[in-house]
Amino acid sequence: MESIKKLADMILESQYAIAFTGAGASTESGIPDFRGPNGLWKQYRAEEIASRWALENNTHDFFEFYRMRLAAMENIKPNRVHYGLAELENMGLLKAVITQNIDGLHKKAGSKRVYEIHGNIREAYCDRCGKKYPAEKLLEEDIPTCDVCGGIVRPNVVLFGEGLPQDQWIGAVREAEAADLVLSIGSSLTVYPAAMIPITVKEAGGKLVIINLEPTGYDSMADLVIHEKAGDVIEALLEEIKNRG
Ligand code: APR
Repeated sequence: MESIKKLADMILESQYAIAFTGAGASTESGIPDFRGPNGLWKQYRAEEIASRWALENNTHDFFEFYRMRLAAMENIKPNRVHYGLAELENMGLLKAVITQNIDGLHKKAGSKRVYEIHGNIREAYCDRCGKKYPAEKLLEEDIPTCDVCGGIVRPNVVLFGEGLPQDQWIGAVREAEAADLVLSIGSSLTVYPAAMIPITVKEAGGKLVIINLEPTGYDSMADLVIHEKAGDVIEALLEEIKNRG
C-alpha cells in the first residue's frame, strides 16, 4: 500500500515523532467510540451525562453512566494500535503518546511516555478536598463520598465544562512544540483544546498524518490521510519498517 510506504518514510526521516490518539485507537479492544456510527454520543447526550453540570445536577445518572463505563472496561486489553505504538517507542521512532482516551491501554501495552490529557477512569478523587481513591470507590455507594471531608468522590476524567489536568496538558503541549511529525490516530478532531495538539505540530512547520476511518475537518491540511482501520495501518507500518531493516 503506497500510503504505508510514505508513512514509513515520514517516520524514519523524522527527528521527533509523536502520536495523538482518540477513541478509534481503542475500538478494536471492544470500547465504543463517541461519534462513530455506533458511538456513545448516539445513545447518550454528552452534556447531560459526562459534564460538570451532570455531576452537580444529574448526579445519580452521572454515576450510573461511569459505573457502566468502568464495568465495560473491566477486562479490556490493548490492541495492535497500543502494542504497535509501544514498539515504535522502543525502537526510538516515537517519542511520546498523547491520548484523549481514559482507558489506560497505552501504559498497559508498555508505552512509557504517555500523557492522559482527559484523565484515567481507573482513578478517582474527592471533588472537594482532592483526596485520591481507586476507581473501586465509585462502586461502594450510589453517590460515593470522601472518607475525610464527605465531599463527592468522582472519576478522574475530564468532564465537559472542566479544564484539563495541567501537568498532563503542559507536558503534551511541550511534546507538540518539540515534534516534527504527529500521527493523529482514531480521533474525529472535534474536541478542544485536545485537538490543538496535532494542529500545533502542523502550524509550527511539522507534518500531520491522520489515520481515521472517517474523514475529519483537518484532512485537507494533513500531509498524509489514511482512511483505514488503525490496527491494520499500524501493523502494516511496523512490517514495512522491519522489512527495511
Ligand atoms: N480505526 C480508525 N479509526 C477509527 C476506528 C478504527 N478501528 N474506530 C473508530 N474510528 C474513528 C471514528 O470514525 C471516529 O472518527 O475514530 C474516531 C473517533 O472519534 P470520536 O468518537 O469523536 O472520539 P475522540 O476523537 O477520541 O473524542 C474526543 O470527546 O467525548 C469526548 O472526552 C471524550 O476523549 C473524548 C473526546
